[in-house]
Amino acid sequence: MAEIIDGKAVAARIVDEVTRHAAELAASGTVPGLAVIIVGEDPASQVYVASKSRKAEACGFHSVQHSLPEATTEEELVALVEELNRNPAIHGILVQLPLPAHINSGRIIQTIAPEKDVDGFHYLNVGKLGTGAIGDGFVPCTPAGSMLLIQGVRGKDLSGLSAVVIGRSNIVGKPMANLLLAANATVTIAHSRTADLPAVCRSADILVAAVGRPEMVKGDWIKPGATVIDVGINRIPAPEKGEGKTRLVGDVAFDEAKQIAGAITPVPGGVGPMTIAMLMANTLASACRAAG
Ligand code: GUN
Repeated sequence: MAEIIDGKAVAARIVDEVTRHAAELAASGTVPGLAVIIVGEDPASQVYVASKSRKAEACGFHSVQHSLPEATTEEELVALVEELNRNPAIHGILVQLPLPAHINSGRIIQTIAPEKDVDGFHYLNVGKLGTGAIGDGFVPCTPAGSMLLIQGVRGKDLSGLSAVVIGRSNIVGKPMANLLLAANATVTIAHSRTADLPAVCRSADILVAAVGRPEMVKGDWIKPGATVIDVGINRIPAPEKGEGKTRLVGDVAFDEAKQIAGAITPVPGGVGPMTIAMLMANTLASACRAAG
């Protein structure tokens, strides 16, 4: 039976440490400031954004949430980001994705000042991660948190281990692959066009699933003893809980996978809390840099 990786507990320790450092920084005159922007009414995004803002407050940060209507124009959003770029009380700016289709997300992300881009999505931060200058820029929160969980099980150096990342998004898959590579793993990025995905997954000592398809990764896709990181958060119907009820599941069929894996993250309580903890850590780092 696999070790169940307690992301919630690891995240709580990181948040405690961030809170302590933030108090020290505040005592020397700099309160870390995080601005979170959401456009439209997507219910899942609303939940994520609310928990980011709440956690920032709990860390003692200056926390601002901008909830804009679906009809917000691209120019209005650019203007808000530029205003936050200039605001010295704000050290981190996060624009929740996805944005409505009429807004060019790429343009908005590139408008965020790289030194306030705590999501690590700006080309400059993507480039720093891609070239191995990791301590210098910002690393996207979900891969950064996943990496800490992997290293908690496997150690910092992943030399000789094979890692498979399922999913090639800019938010998770690609930065995750870069982090694994920087830690000396042998990395494969698999995706919807990969031939014989189960066989590719079975080669992985470290398997990261970030596809957004409920319970897609089956138990027999997993190499015995592998470390399995489930990034998926999928809401599915749960008629057994009553009519109209739902439950959260990951991209991995957890009950099957835990029989085979060496260690596995649960959903919820695995990667999710780590994402928010890393956002707090990135915002604190940004405030520390600004304070000099
Ligand atoms: N949407 C899903 N994940 C993320 C994230 O990490 N950051 C932002 N800004 N939007 C997201």
